[in-house]
Amino acid sequence: MQVLVIGGTEFISLHLVRALLRDGHRVAVLNRGRNPARLPAGVRTIVCDRTDHAALRKTLASERCDALVDIAYAPTSGADVEALVDALDGRVGHAVFVSTGRVHDHALPIPYHEDTPRNLYWGDYARNKIAGEDVLMRRWRERRLPVTIVRPTHVYGPLNTRNNETFFFDRLVRNRPILVPGAGGWLRQFGHVEDLADAMAAMLGVPASFGQAYNVTGEEAVTQVGFVELIGEVLKRPVTFVHVETEHGDKPVAFGQNLVYDCHAVYTTTKIRAELGIRARYSLAAGLAQTYEWYVREGLDRRDVDFSAEDARLR
Ligand SMILES: NC(=O)c1ccc[n+]([C@@H]2O[C@H](COP(=O)([O-])OP(=O)(O)OC[C@H]3O[C@@H](n4cnc5c(N)ncnc54)[C@H](OP(=O)(O)O)[C@@H]3O)[C@@H](O)[C@H]2O)c1
Repeated sequence: MQVLVIGGTEFISLHLVRALLRDGHRVAVLNRGRNPARLPAGVRTIVCDRTDHAALRKTLASERCDALVDIAYAPTSGADVEALVDALDGRVGHAVFVSTGRVHDHALPIPYHEDTPRNLYWGDYARNKIAGEDVLMRRWRERRLPVTIVRPTHVYGPLNTRNNETFFFDRLVRNRPILVPGAGGWLRQFGHVEDLADAMAAMLGVPASFGQAYNVTGEEAVTQVGFVELIGEVLKRPVTFVHVETEHGDKPVAFGQNLVYDCHAVYTTTKIRAELGIRARYSLAAGLAQTYEWYVREGLDRRDVDFSAEDARLR
């Protein structure tokens, strides 16, 4: 298949490019060309800012692909998704859109499944993702363009651009305590980036996935402190927690890049398993161990980290 990936050079989209090449596909990526060195050989780069709709139309005028995977968040509005499919009008076999589990109303009881109502619990991010989903689902209903919506959550793994698991690696390798917002009992669910990339690669061109949305993540829900304890086990380091209550008006203590918030985030993956036979391969422990190997290999265990705000809180 000829596959066009929007993005391609950082984290999720780069892992997808690798999975597509492994599976023997021809791959082109569209991005602004800021990180060309990262791309594996044999990938064609189309340099364009996706938010510049006139440039997009011109650049993609003669492109044709069997599958399009829209990953780059610019932040990407519904109009940006529409401009992309318009620019490729009639020349795409299957369009996959990377949305997020955060389209679901997180005030509702867990777990969230694909039909859990969507709302703006997560603000503009949810607004943009819902708009992007709706643009594509409308194309499916009205013009029969094959589309699939993928909703990941807390993606982790090598090359992660979110400082989540690496936030705790940084502290545990230095025997530092972990500040916890409140009780640290909110549930989180993590998905390994290679499982997400494999899932997307496996669904391309599959008719059963057309017009469908799928949660794509790992199988284990874990509390905030449970996540850190698991990392401690993987790293074979003791964990010391310091629970910090947020006083009125105070900022909560930092806890990963985006793991602080006061709600559970738990999702079912029954639909993708049942309908497409796709399931995650990594357990959370195995995925964290593999990510920690990458972190050490890259020398990130020796990187400079500013702990001054944390030290002030501890005092
Ligand atoms: N990480 C998570 O936990 C998580 C969870 C749920 C959903 N998601 C979704 O996953 C997607 C992001 O994945 P990621 O963070 O791993 O990043 P990524 O897609 O691997 O990297 C971002 C890519 O987008 C390109 N890009 C950024 N702005 C662009 C623009 N204006 N025009 C064209 N290309 C642009 C970047 O290249 P240039 O800078 O060279 O343009 C880069 O190749 C987003 O849609 C996000 O909402 C992530």
